[in-house]
Amino acid sequence: MSARIDMDWNSVVADIVASRGDGQTALIPILQDIQLSYGYVPAEAQMEIAKALNLSGARVSEVISFYSFLTDEPQGKFVFRLCQTISCEMKGKEEVGRALESALGISFGETSEDGLFSLEFTNCIGMCDQPPAMLVNDDVYGDLTPEGIAEIVADYRRKGDEL
Ligand code: FES
Repeated sequence: MSARIDMDWNSVVADIVASRGDGQTALIPILQDIQLSYGYVPAEAQMEIAKALNLSGARVSEVISFYSFLTDEPQGKFVFRLCQTISCEMKGKEEVGRALESALGISFGETSEDGLFSLEFTNCIGMCDQPPAMLVNDDVYGDLTPEGIAEIVADYRRKGDEL
């Protein structure tokens, strides 16, 4: 699991709210800003956001659970998101999923010990004509096969070594 970030979330959130505003429509932009800067939105930050926007903590947490690009746990440097929607489901998502688990050494919903990889499902990513499909951070892959997964993962391991 990647390291949690210990910081003064009160002042981080106050700075972001100062630029994004404290209306309820600012919720998603604020969450995105924190996700982008810190890699996740910790419980402490969620509490500060709820206070600043006059929302319940449950509402903030619900929004984070709804959007696959928001997380409340630290994630790996490379986040593999395999599409689980119908076209991909029907075209071998299960087999590709097993190949991903095996190549990454983690199950869906997990992050590798070295903090390099996270693996999760996502809903349709607009690649329904090339199923099964996945995202690795912002990179899009379609027509995946179980056999091709090892090479894709090896590429990211190399990139990880260069970081
Ligand atoms: S159903 Fe998988 S990309 Fe659309």
